[in-house]
Amino acid sequence: MNATMRRVMGLGLGIVALLATGCDRGPKSMRGFVLPEGSAQRGEQVFVAMKCTACHRVDGLPALPAPTAAADRVVVIGGEVARVKTYGQLLTAIVHPSFELSPKMPRERAEKATVSPMPSVNDKLTVMHLIDLVTFLQPHYRKLEPLYEPYYSAPGM
Ligand code: HEC
Repeated sequence: MNATMRRVMGLGLGIVALLATGCDRGPKSMRGFVLPEGSAQRGEQVFVAMKCTACHRVDGLPALPAPTAAADRVVVIGGEVARVKTYGQLLTAIVHPSFELSPKMPRERAEKATVSPMPSVNDKLTVMHLIDLVTFLQPHYRKLEPLYEPYYSAPGM
């Protein structure tokens, strides 16, 4: 890699770092937001009791009640994903589903939709339910390892 390339890459990484930390300051920053540990077992009970299973299957848990939504509307939670959902992203997916529609939404629907078909549960869920739900769901996401060697790790670079 020559000096110009290194400089361009450095600039690129700088921009990425700025974007990643940009929302971390200011009055609406999520900094300092830490929830207590939850219980995955209670989270599973909440998941069933709140009928999340109507539209969702959870990867690795075939014994949960079967979805009642049409097969092409069912969204699988967890499984192999390019980027594991963070705790914060999972919380957001539950209490503010339209903020960012899941990449798992069937493509032809996602292109049209800007509002999530997921009903709001904010006036029914307690904070403890929410903490338990996230504790239950997060371990079901597994990172998909790339099958190829990324170009930047090629020998000699
Ligand atoms: C009527 C169907 C429906 C119900 C009921 C429902 N969801 Fe969803 N959910 C969806 C759809 C559709 C998406 C994809 C669009 C989006 O991102 O909101 C989704 C996305 C999600 C995601 C993000 C998944 C990912 O990997 O990107 C999570 C987490 C989630 N739902 C949790 C829940 C929980 C917890 C409940 C119960 C309190 C619930 N959902 C109830 C339809 C539903």
